[in-house]
Amino acid sequence: MDIRHIAAQPSADERTAVDALLGPPQSRWDGGSRADPRAAHASVVGGRASRALRHLLLPALQALQARIGWISEGGLGYVCERLNVPPADAWGVATFYALLATSPRPARVVHVCDDIACKCRGADELVAALERRVGPPLSHGTSASAAPPTSSPQPPTSGWLRSPCLGQCDRAPAAFVTIAGEQPREFSVGRVTAEQVIEILNGARDHTVVGSEDPADVTSITAADVSLVTTDAGRVFRPGKDTGHDGPLLRRVGRVDPGSIDAYRASGGFAALEKARARGPAAVVAEIADSKLLGRGGAAFPAGRKWEAVRTAPATPHYVVCNADESEPGTFKDRVLLEEDPFAIVEAMAIAAFAVGCDRAFVYVRGEYPLAAARLRHAIDAARASGLLAGLDIEIRRGGGAYVCGEETALFESIEGRRGEPRNKPPFPVHAGLFGRPTLVNNVETLANVPHILLDGARAFASAGTPQSAGTRLFCLSGGVRRPGVYEAPFGSTVREMVERAGGLLPGRTLRAILLGGAAGTFLGPADLDLRLTHEDTRAAGAALGSGVIMAIDDSVDLHGLLLRIAAFFRDESCGQCVPCRVGTLRQEEALHRLTAASNGDDAARELALLEDVGAAMKDASICGLGQTAFSAIESAITRLRVFGEGDVRR
Ligand SMILES: Cc1cc2nc3c(=O)[nH]c(=O)nc-3n(C[C@H](O)[C@H](O)[C@H](O)COP(=O)(O)O)c2cc1C
Ligand code: SF4
Ligand code: FES
Repeated sequence: MDIRHIAAQPSADERTAVDALLGPPQSRWDGGSRADPRAAHASVVGGRASRALRHLLLPALQALQARIGWISEGGLGYVCERLNVPPADAWGVATFYALLATSPRPARVVHVCDDIACKCRGADELVAALERRVGPPLSHGTSASAAPPTSSPQPPTSGWLRSPCLGQCDRAPAAFVTIAGEQPREFSVGRVTAEQVIEILNGARDHTVVGSEDPADVTSITAADVSLVTTDAGRVFRPGKDTGHDGPLLRRVGRVDPGSIDAYRASGGFAALEKARARGPAAVVAEIADSKLLGRGGAAFPAGRKWEAVRTAPATPHYVVCNADESEPGTFKDRVLLEEDPFAIVEAMAIAAFAVGCDRAFVYVRGEYPLAAARLRHAIDAARASGLLAGLDIEIRRGGGAYVCGEETALFESIEGRRGEPRNKPPFPVHAGLFGRPTLVNNVETLANVPHILLDGARAFASAGTPQSAGTRLFCLSGGVRRPGVYEAPFGSTVREMVERAGGLLPGRTLRAILLGGAAGTFLGPADLDLRLTHEDTRAAGAALGSGVIMAIDDSVDLHGLLLRIAAFFRDESCGQCVPCRVGTLRQEEALHRLTAASNGDDAARELALLEDVGAAMKDASICGLGQTAFSAIESAITRLRVFGEGDVRR
């Protein structure tokens, strides 16, 4: 097929950025020299070979973004030539991902979270201060017109953007910084102030450390290609220090150097992989099934059933995908595991790959987690260099800033180089997943359970929790609690116990609600604090554990504003593929705005009825979980908290 390319030419820097990823072009057919007339008639890269490179489209666009700060027509055209992708198709991909800009954007950008957990900790005030002192945020769209005004004739070299949840709700309000250039840098900033954002925008601060500045936390990762900051280790639950419950998932966090393979081995690491190889694939899968491990990514599907289906699937090759996209507002547990115990995830992936017969695995890490990606890369390299991966190839792919890409089939589309639009199911991933092949996709926390299930046995694992919700669970405590962070507890603990373990509410505050399960979850009232955190108890109460979010909403929070933010999140993150969700999320947000402004009961009743209709349509007719849950939190606020009901006050 002859693809019509864009006339605009790439700059030297754009070529260099793309070639650094793809290697130099081989002929004029893939963007190389046009000097040789024979190349006009004969291609050195066959059609099949060039189509097989399509999965590199997102990494190539990310390389341009990291080098230049945005994707120009010339740069896009060059990527298209290199990968044999039609420009209109690649444009569709480039415009899908929020972290990619298709109009000029300054090299230095601070993404400031204005999402729900950060709203509970001063994000509105932070954003207002930035608007006052710096100017309006940059636009997410394709137009550069919203760039901040500048007195200089030069285009601005820095700017800030509003961002959805950055997965740092434990250190809210949070920001994420990207600095494009020859040596691009990315870093996260927790408990950020307007002063710090301004310093970063001015180039006076390139590296912010949150909490303890312990160099041991970072020194082992010298090969990392991103700026490293320590995690807020002081806020991560230390089992021994807290209630004496030494949970298996967090036992190394804050204690074992995440950059040292020796330290990991000394703490028992890689013994499970050795045991798995000695026992054989069928026995490993049987052990996982016996443990009754349920997926921790939200859907709570039995892990053993998936593993067995992929192990026995006749089509080959088989793939293993670790879902580390973690973009559900309020969720940050996977980030803590990846940053603080990356070797455990590598070991678990190696066990999964061995069990299901896979020699190429992927980890899809959300784009806003540079430290997690760096530590994971280091762990994969170290494990490979030590011969522990036995030929298994584990590739890291970075997300582009799209919540929907956490949905497993959207994630496959994204890895394959397309817009992250969920597929219809069936077929299910275990039969036709990544590249159309049988694929085991598991959440980071699900996989983190695997080594200790194999070492301690399925029975020991299932002895914690309840018969229907086995094991321990990571809960993400945020909002108005004194010690936000990740806490491990056996299933069956109550909401009240978890809030107490996080230090209870901030002084002088009264609890208004708990958001359980994230933006796609459910609000509970203060009367529900004794709800037991199991799948069966939450289901019976009309709620769900989701990704383990427990966000305390106190009386200082504007609940209407919180609901509007949730509605804006779903409207923004809808991939737009199916009508109920594309239109429904928009209508839901509009109705909420009208409700908030409604001055009489009749108007409010009409809008509430409309909201209910729209919510039901989204729930019943959307293709994927995003649309199906977009009304969930708002509905529960209306029915359980009586928001917009009789006696509702703005705060
Ligand atoms: C909109 C949407 C976003 C999702 N985001 C994530 C995510 O970030 N991480 C995750 O593990 N699962 C996410 N899921 C669930 C995945 O589709 C899938 O069920 C999960 O990765 C399977 O792993 P598990 O069985 O170990 O939970 C999401 C689902 C939907 C509908
Ligand atoms: S429900 Fe929403 S996010 Fe999911 S496929 Fe439909 S439009 Fe896309
Ligand atoms: S980091 Fe701001 S809401 Fe999660």
